[in-house]
Amino acid sequence: MAYRVPDMGSLLVTGGAGFIGSNFVRTACDRVSDRIVVLDALTYAGNLANIRDLVDQGHVDFVKGDICDEALVGQLFRDRGITRVVHFAAESHVDRSILGPEAFLRTNIHGTYVLLQAARSAWGEATTERFLHVSTDEVYGALTPDDPPFTESSPYLPSSPYSSSKAASDHLARSWNHTYGLPVLVTNCSNNYGPWQFPEKLIPLVILNAVEERELPVYGDGLQVRDWLHVEDHCDALLRVLDRGAVGETYLVGGNCERKNIDIVKWICDAVDERLGRAAGTARGLIRHVTDRPGHDRRYAIDASKLRDELGWAPTRTLEEALPSVVDWYLEHRDWATDIRSGAYLDYYDTQYGAR
Ligand code: NAD
Ligand code: TYD
Repeated sequence: MAYRVPDMGSLLVTGGAGFIGSNFVRTACDRVSDRIVVLDALTYAGNLANIRDLVDQGHVDFVKGDICDEALVGQLFRDRGITRVVHFAAESHVDRSILGPEAFLRTNIHGTYVLLQAARSAWGEATTERFLHVSTDEVYGALTPDDPPFTESSPYLPSSPYSSSKAASDHLARSWNHTYGLPVLVTNCSNNYGPWQFPEKLIPLVILNAVEERELPVYGDGLQVRDWLHVEDHCDALLRVLDRGAVGETYLVGGNCERKNIDIVKWICDAVDERLGRAAGTARGLIRHVTDRPGHDRRYAIDASKLRDELGWAPTRTLEEALPSVVDWYLEHRDWATDIRSGAYLDYYDTQYGAR
């Protein structure tokens, strides 16, 4: 009798058509034996083009749908034999959360609740399943220049509608572990950058605007600090936590790469000028210091030593090492960027930057 390959179950990736989710799916296709099911509502930030090749080649099963849809989510767990979840789906942009917080409460809080309940109902007392809730370092609030980086025991102090909705979802995920025994793990990561990032976030926005010789909006004095991590390093950390992390635990993920916004913007300006053969200083001339973001967190930084000590993970590149290839990627994918910067993006852009 022929050997039958054991049924490995299915890995559900919510938000798998977004920035980090699509990078994760690409990495996971090579490294996990589960079937991969992506559930994504394809909001403005989700784009099937990010994973179309994987869907067309049959590596990924794509389901368009909303994580708040209880019937759909419940049916997915039952029909697809979901045994592991990596939950990315979220409204993710701080500026949009300030303009309109309701969608953040709905997707980030209620959507997470729906997924946790569906997993609980499908998995019962089973112990081999895993629910990895992907979150952000922004739940810890802002650091002063002299504060030590965040650790897993830092107190929650979120300050934007985005970060407070993510904080709420983290609490739900942990309490579903504590109360119901759901096999939950949580990661909180610093700012990501890399391919397929929607150009409302600092790095892709500045690259594309610099290429098109549009203004480069720097909020306030530009001295805010973020800890930057290449998205592929984040995906590697997530796979390690999914495979070998201890259930009920939280792991912080960071780049050990604190940089000021203004320094990044200037670096991108020079890289773009050089690649396009323009006179030095052309793009820097587009920098505009605009009205600061309300409640703008001054600094984030991560101490990822738990992940390093327990799971052997460390970031493999600094921002300076990785940015040249990232700038090249956006130059080589101008069509992708043009397609997603549709009418809706232009409306958002006018609202966000028009009056600053
Ligand atoms: P993104 O905005 O690029 O992608 C979010 C994805 O979720 C999109 O594909 C969107 O269509 C989908 N989505 C939104 N609402 C949905 C809903 N109701 N139902 C189903 N799908 C829905 O976000 P990202 O930057 O890839 O972030 C992914 C996750 O990682 C988020 O949970 C975010 O909080 C977290 N995170 C992001 C960063 C970062 O720097 N980008 C850092 C740390 C943590
Ligand atoms: P962003 O990419 O929106 O990520 P987050 O707010 O989650 O950290 O912004 C990164 C930093 O860049 C943040 O300090 C805000 C700043 N910023 C600007 O100065 N100008 C911009 O146009 C944007 C989008 C961000």
